[in-house]
Amino acid sequence: MKNMIALILAAGKGTRMKSKFPKVLHKVGGVPMVEQVLRTVKAAGTQRQVVVVGFGGETVQEYLEHRAETVVQAQQLGTGHAVMQAEPLLGKETGTLLVTCGDTPLVTEDTFRKLLACHEETGAAATVLTAVMPDPTGYGRVIRDANGQVMKIVEQKDGTPDELAVHEVNAGIYCFDMSLLWDMLHHVNNNNAQGEYYLTDIIGMLVHEGKVVSAFAAPDYRETLGVNSRMQMAEAEQVLRRRKLDQLMADGVSVIDPNNTYVDTTVSVGRDTVLYPGTILEGNTVIGEDCQVGPYVRMTNVAMGDGDHLQFTYAHDCEIKNGCEIGPFVHFRPNTVIGNHVKVGNYMEVKNSHVGDGTKLPHLSYIGDSDVGSGVNIGCGTITVNYDGKIKHRTTIGDHAFVGCNSNLVAPVTIGDYAYVGAGSTITKDVPAKSLSIARAKQRNIEGWVKDDTYKK
Ligand code: UD1
Ligand code: CA
Repeated sequence: MKNMIALILAAGKGTRMKSKFPKVLHKVGGVPMVEQVLRTVKAAGTQRQVVVVGFGGETVQEYLEHRAETVVQAQQLGTGHAVMQAEPLLGKETGTLLVTCGDTPLVTEDTFRKLLACHEETGAAATVLTAVMPDPTGYGRVIRDANGQVMKIVEQKDGTPDELAVHEVNAGIYCFDMSLLWDMLHHVNNNNAQGEYYLTDIIGMLVHEGKVVSAFAAPDYRETLGVNSRMQMAEAEQVLRRRKLDQLMADGVSVIDPNNTYVDTTVSVGRDTVLYPGTILEGNTVIGEDCQVGPYVRMTNVAMGDGDHLQFTYAHDCEIKNGCEIGPFVHFRPNTVIGNHVKVGNYMEVKNSHVGDGTKLPHLSYIGDSDVGSGVNIGCGTITVNYDGKIKHRTTIGDHAFVGCNSNLVAPVTIGDYAYVGAGSTITKDVPAKSLSIARAKQRNIEGWVKDDTYKK
């Protein structure tokens, strides 16, 4: 295969974002924009990926470590200047350089592939990805001659009224023949309205030299939307979100209300699972088949099996096995593993705990730092008292144990298999297997305590 290298321009400050952080680290679809672009160009078949960093460069470089090569553009003197910073690294390479922007996260793998194929097939020195925009304001315009041949690209700030009337824009994405590119770049000047070294000038220069310049039109202009402001970021988010939901639906997942369902591009969902409104699935969340998720469930990095039903729940960094009934109003905190066919419902918090198969945690309990066996019944209001003010201690509850309502289990403590804890107990010592423990003041009834003349008959 021909040598194909991707160069991602990401040195700009992103002034209009009004952010302390580099623009390309802002997330869309749950993933930093630059990462989104990186993944797509890798998937499209580029063998090497280089990112030009500048503003907030160290933070971006740190983020990209082991993911991509980086070069630094210390001063942002324009897109042409940005590409030139890669010359020391790539100057001796031949083949195709795919140049794209870190702030254009919606371009699909398919479009990159088609652009690369078009470049190859036409034997072009450069190929531009173009898009016909309803409102082209702000973008560079693609100027063609009477035969439809691309002649040059003109920036918004440099265009004549006639040129600005063109709706076909430069997406800021190109393929270049590297054997011509580096030389050409040295001839780019900054005699323009912005005083910048424009990469786009290369196009006119190549045409002038009689080289073949091709254009490939994106199938949907929305793919090429650049993110320059928070408003555009929200638009990009919406496009990516809808694309993800469409993919899930095509794969057999039901989405009751796509306008009110938020699934990161990194999440996977099995078929015949139903996503109800208010569902937010983030990070590395994996959901199996035949689940019912929502309404109002947020899950971050959760591994979930098949046939689980969850509503009004927040779970993060945990695992839920198969056939569980969860919610409403449940919070699963990190390092929690919920076994098969477990019932957790109505105002429950579980943290750093393992809950065995078939166990029931039905109401109003806190289970923290605990190992709960299988077939256990935890009565309403039970609390594992895991923190002594300095250290967290573990609670162990054996298989088939029965903990009565409103008990405190003061850790470290073990409740044996098949043991019973009487309601209202505060357990401070281990309870042996198969025994009953009651730890509360014995009930005393004092009859005649209220004198007849103290209340009105
Ligand atoms: C650029 C194109 C314009 C195109 C538009 C598409 C030029 C001169 N213009 O304009 O034709 O329609 O993209 O979105 O290329 N960057 C650097 N270093 C710099 C300047 C920019 O790395 O010195 C990076 C930015 O971080 C960004 C990308 O290059 O990722 C584009 O830069 P930006 O300033 O947004 O260019 P536009 O004005 O949008
Ligand atoms: Ca831009």
